[in-house]
Amino acid sequence: MNNLKSVGIIGTGSFVPEKIVTNHDLAKIVDTSDEWIVSRTGIKERRFASDEIATSDLAYEAGKRAIENAGLKSEDIDLIILATLTPDMSLPSTACIVQDKLKAVNAAAFDVSAACSGFLYGITIANQMVKGGVNKNVLVIGAEAMSKILDMEDRNTCVLFGDGAGAVVISEVEKGSGILATELGADGSGSMYLNIPGGGSRNPATQKTIDGRLHYMKMEGQGVFKFAVRIMSNSTKKVIGKAGIELTDIDYMVPHQANIRIIEAAAKKMKLPMEKVKVNLDRIGNTSAASIPIALDEALKDGKINKGDNVVLVGFGGGLTWGSCLIKW
Ligand code: UT7
Repeated sequence: MNNLKSVGIIGTGSFVPEKIVTNHDLAKIVDTSDEWIVSRTGIKERRFASDEIATSDLAYEAGKRAIENAGLKSEDIDLIILATLTPDMSLPSTACIVQDKLKAVNAAAFDVSAACSGFLYGITIANQMVKGGVNKNVLVIGAEAMSKILDMEDRNTCVLFGDGAGAVVISEVEKGSGILATELGADGSGSMYLNIPGGGSRNPATQKTIDGRLHYMKMEGQGVFKFAVRIMSNSTKKVIGKAGIELTDIDYMVPHQANIRIIEAAAKKMKLPMEKVKVNLDRIGNTSAASIPIALDEALKDGKINKGDNVVLVGFGGGLTWGSCLIKW
């Protein structure tokens, strides 16, 4: 029966643009300092895409690498799910643009909108599509050109985010390994904490919305911070509970890379030593939906994850949304 299939990640890839923007560079633009950014967030530098680069360009590179890493060809992919809050445009989906770039001619394609949790929503859908026998090889991409929606006059947000993309291929795997459990959630009553008020059907683009800088991301950092620490440990506990394992059975964790203080506080709540936790935000900042797949790709390439390990991916973001996924590697 299909529902007995084990489904997991058979390939990963990631890509970040070349241009490095340091805290010192930002201190020349807004009233901030390297000392403030490092001590409050852990971020030292991030990557910004150049003017001609859009989210689909980053997604294409990461997707291509994940397909190669899986030992497949573009034609083998039968579904592309792309998580982003910075689509190239609102129509068509960025997934369709990437499908064309990859020449993935046998793939259906759609975008997922769940902000920084989007990649976890994507792999949860992909897992079920493969388990259910609807698809064989699903490419899930998290990709963001956050620099394009950052208000470079707002020091509360512009120092936190960066650009990049990460991707995985989800397919049937060896029995007993792969995705053991997933957990997703949302609380739309927290939508005011993170949003882009202009340019949608609520406030269509006008001179007034542009003058009001409504097309840039707005954030109430402290509200997100408290929610994030709580939800990272709650969601992890739920997902491992579904699979019947304990916190001490977790071999490695790949958390959303928003703030080192959030990651450390959540790890402490779970009594998880930081050696078991992937951190790369110092080098690339918060890349929203791309952060978990980039971090996962790096951890695998650095040999941090071994066969048989219990790996937890966990994240949170605008919506508010959250999600986690337990994988037996
Ligand atoms: O993917 C999810 C997306 N978002 C997040 O994960 C954000 C979660 N939140 C956070 O990471 C933190 O709340 C921040 C890093 C955004 C802020 O850190 P904080 O320790 O909560 O600082 P704060 O908001 O309490 O601000 C402290 C002070 C304020 O000044 P006053 O009012 O005390 O005089 C801010 O105006 O720091 C000021 N401040 C800055 N100073 C220098 C805010 N941003 C900056 C800045 N440089 N870039």
